[in-house]
Amino acid sequence: MPQTVRGVVALSKGAPVEVVDVVVPDPGPGEAVVAVQSCGVCHTDLHYREGGINDEFPFLLGHEAAGVVEAVGEGVTEVAPGDFVILNWRAVCGQCRACLKGKPWYCFNTHNATQRMTLTDGTELSPALGIGAFIEKTLVAAGQCTKVDPEADAAAVGLLGCGVMAGFGAAVNTGGVQRGDSVAVIGCGGVGNAAIAGARTVGATTIIAVDVDDAKLETARGFGATHTVNGRSEDVVERVRELTGGFGADVVVEAVGRPETYEQAFYARDLAGTVVLVGVPTPEQQVTLPMIEIFGRGGSLKSSWYGDCLPSRDFPMLVDLYRQGRFDLDGFVSERIALDEVESAFEKMERGEVLRSVVVL
Ligand SMILES: NC(=O)c1ccc[n+]([C@@H]2O[C@H](COP(=O)([O-])OP(=O)(O)OC[C@H]3O[C@@H](n4cnc5c(N)ncnc54)[C@H](O)[C@@H]3O)[C@@H](O)[C@H]2O)c1
Ligand SMILES: [Zn+2]
Ligand SMILES: [Zn+2]
Repeated sequence: MPQTVRGVVALSKGAPVEVVDVVVPDPGPGEAVVAVQSCGVCHTDLHYREGGINDEFPFLLGHEAAGVVEAVGEGVTEVAPGDFVILNWRAVCGQCRACLKGKPWYCFNTHNATQRMTLTDGTELSPALGIGAFIEKTLVAAGQCTKVDPEADAAAVGLLGCGVMAGFGAAVNTGGVQRGDSVAVIGCGGVGNAAIAGARTVGATTIIAVDVDDAKLETARGFGATHTVNGRSEDVVERVRELTGGFGADVVVEAVGRPETYEQAFYARDLAGTVVLVGVPTPEQQVTLPMIEIFGRGGSLKSSWYGDCLPSRDFPMLVDLYRQGRFDLDGFVSERIALDEVESAFEKMERGEVLRSVVVL
């Protein structure tokens, strides 16, 4: 029997989100219905509401979630009712050209549920990042559920479903940060701080946090930054070089997504170093760099999609590190809120007051 539950929907471009009744079908083949316990408020949800992703309104928002599998459809073997899971937006297909080359973290054909959740009048909803988790129960592809230790706090580990995984993975998976490395992270929101925490976890010894907001820099120290640079009052490239023996950092993570911060990242790395762009630019932004510098500096200029993560490999590992006190997921949970507070959480996010507001159900 389809169920009617409460969910947060963006009905039209720019309009405040509303809590409305949503119809969730029974899971079909390869699908699962998950009773959502927590879902973080991410900048991407706001992008959807503003029409910045596409115009397939109405959207069912929310995508950084954890919960318990309630029911599964035909042929589902990877999870069963009662499993505690983190939802992911990279359910790898196993068959596309990336998967066949043994690089499933790039999978070009990820799975979502085939059926659609709807409004009570039958209007189909577009779930944010193929998830839609500001809702009591959601319908996803079974491969979007990654089983983890049920003792973990849902509000904390649900954040691995997007921003925290993206930041940790940008440093560790894409940037390849190792013990003894110097790392600079430009932009210390949820994503940048996760990159800082990841760099600390794997043993980087110099970790430089760069932001334009002193409060964000203070928080970054708590996650493991050994030095801080305020990009509004200091020359970022000069300061990073000074703090790394005059050379620049081995790995620079750009977690803002702007041309000026990308240029800082480019010049703040050491010769043969790595730049990782995890911040998402807008379509009209451009960078101009001297080709001789691109050649002469060597190394690599990379982008990180979802931290190049493999949920089945990375989520349980990060939950273990969290449970052992080696990765501070609790530090990202700024506040716990109800479903009807998502709109005010967007405002707090825009004012830079929170790393993550987390809806708890
Ligand atoms: N690649 C991915 O898979 C992925 C996943 C999730 C989020 N993201 C992107 O990562 C970026 C960061 O996300 P977030 O949730 O941390 O956002 P956020 O808004 O919480 O943080 C951005 C931070 O950048 C700082 N900042 C702004 N301008 C700056 C400048 N000129 N110099 C230095 N710092 C500056 C802000 O003060 C803020 O602390 C966004 O672009 C987001 O879309 C990417
Ligand atoms: Zn694939
Ligand atoms: Zn997100």
